[in-house]
Amino acid sequence: MEKRTTILDFQAKCDKGEKLVVVTAYDYPMALAVDAAGVDAILVGDSLSTTMLGRPSTLSATMDEMIHHTKAVARAVKQALVIGDMPFLSYQLGLEDALENAGAFLSEAGAQAVKLEWCPQAPEVTSFLVENGVPVMGHVGFTPQHVHQWGGYHQQGKDKAGATRLLQQAKTLEKAGAFAVVLELVPPVIAQKISQSLKVPTIGIGAGPHCDGQVQVFHDMMGLLPDFHPKHAKAYLHLHEEIKKAVQQYAQEVRSGKFQPGS
Ligand code: KIV
Repeated sequence: MEKRTTILDFQAKCDKGEKLVVVTAYDYPMALAVDAAGVDAILVGDSLSTTMLGRPSTLSATMDEMIHHTKAVARAVKQALVIGDMPFLSYQLGLEDALENAGAFLSEAGAQAVKLEWCPQAPEVTSFLVENGVPVMGHVGFTPQHVHQWGGYHQQGKDKAGATRLLQQAKTLEKAGAFAVVLELVPPVIAQKISQSLKVPTIGIGAGPHCDGQVQVFHDMMGLLPDFHPKHAKAYLHLHEEIKKAVQQYAQEVRSGKFQPGS
């Protein structure tokens, strides 16, 4: 392993006012390209349940799947910080269980940190993991593992009470030792207030430009899913169309006998 970005580098960049760049990746070639682009961190998100496996939500991602994909990503990454996302019910059922699962991301899969979503247990779990050597990134706002509780993919923290709650949650996670906090689908003005109130970096997705960094989902950035265009994402490529065109050309060449790549 060459020198990968550490959580200290992450904080130092934030302290210098440099914006942090985070992208998800889920397999070896994806991680090779994303790492070579010079991002600060790669998140192996439980979004792989939807993006890679075609399921309707992140709720059915399993520890085995997360470890399998994190291993592939970690094999590719030379310079970025690798963060594994703790799936639903891998950290809510008890401290020992959470440590065993979080530890597997580090010891088996080659990640350097884990991410977990806000839940009542999150502060206690965060401090327990941190005390045991597992760096933790928090996640507040729209937390996809609560999608049924939220009744869909809705912005959080829109009223005063909701905004205050998000600020408190983010501060609580910082106090518990989280090295960064993801803010998802939060009004930009609230994300700005949270970012100004925390020393650790905030990483936004659908939370406006004032966070200390941004995270995007690889498939959204690359236009890999033709029927899914979330408002908070920017497609830099339209790979679904490009791949379709390439395969159509290949099919046409095979069928016409033009396909002769060498033997
Ligand atoms: O799973 C994921 O990709 C995430 C990001 C959207 C932050 O949690």
